[in-house]
Amino acid sequence: MKLLDGKLVADQIKTEIAAEVKLQFLDRDIEPPHIAAVLVGEDPASMTYVAAKEKGCHEVGFVSSVYRYPANISQAKLLEVIDFLNADSEIDGFIVQLPLPAHIEEHVIIERIDPLKDIDGFHPVNIGKMVLNLPCFLPATPFGIITLLERYNIETAGKNVVVLGRSHIVGTPVSLMLSRKSNPGNATVTLCHSLSKDIALTASRADILIVALGKQGFVTADMVKQDAVVIDVGVHRVPSTETKSGFRLKGDVDFEKVSRKCSYITPVPGGVGPMTIVSLLRNTLKAAKRKLI
Ligand code: GUN
Repeated sequence: MKLLDGKLVADQIKTEIAAEVKLQFLDRDIEPPHIAAVLVGEDPASMTYVAAKEKGCHEVGFVSSVYRYPANISQAKLLEVIDFLNADSEIDGFIVQLPLPAHIEEHVIIERIDPLKDIDGFHPVNIGKMVLNLPCFLPATPFGIITLLERYNIETAGKNVVVLGRSHIVGTPVSLMLSRKSNPGNATVTLCHSLSKDIALTASRADILIVALGKQGFVTADMVKQDAVVIDVGVHRVPSTETKSGFRLKGDVDFEKVSRKCSYITPVPGGVGPMTIVSLLRNTLKAAKRKLI
């Protein structure tokens, strides 16, 4: 078994991005890429994600701003924030951290984002272009997964890919991306969800198994084919007596047992997580290049 070391690959890509920031922006007296995040409420996972994004930005020389609002902000006020960020020429791209409080309709907020600043790739225009294989912003986690497969030279053409979970953020876009006529891509993709029958049998036929269910330890060794490639998108905090913080991170896959059976596997932490952040940075760089033209 080999680890798909997302931290290592993300660090390599960050070095590449930092070099581009210097060459194309700083050395030419052009403002570096500027990314903004909108954070509503105090969901711990969202706060962790936004903090990790800020750290990544600083590492590559980007400017980063966070716009924080209480959980009771109205939808109308949040739309005003989106309009402001769309119009602000200093901000190259921004994200609205999900999930939003129940009284806010996520799709209304996302549809208000200028597709050219939609570095999360969640706007219907970007999703539509992604499906059609046209230039667009790719959602960060699927983009990170694809990049990891690419950098480890893992062939996807003609392979059986099984995706567990059909969220708008991971499962649905990654299944579309891998079934497109592209490289990585050209795979035969099966997308399993809560109403799928016999998920274990379907998963056990996968050459590449992508797990984004949000259920800790769901995938056990019997659900994995010998020498399969396993990508674990889950992140769960579990209590631990072995760490100072009193918890450790675990994924949707039973790593200890599954890692003995597969050819490649992503660890949690240090697998998909760092690739998500670096993919957002890549999208921001791409958005900021508009001002170089
Ligand atoms: N919530 C969980 N993952 C993501 C992500 O990639 N982007 C945003 N905006 N919210 C998220």
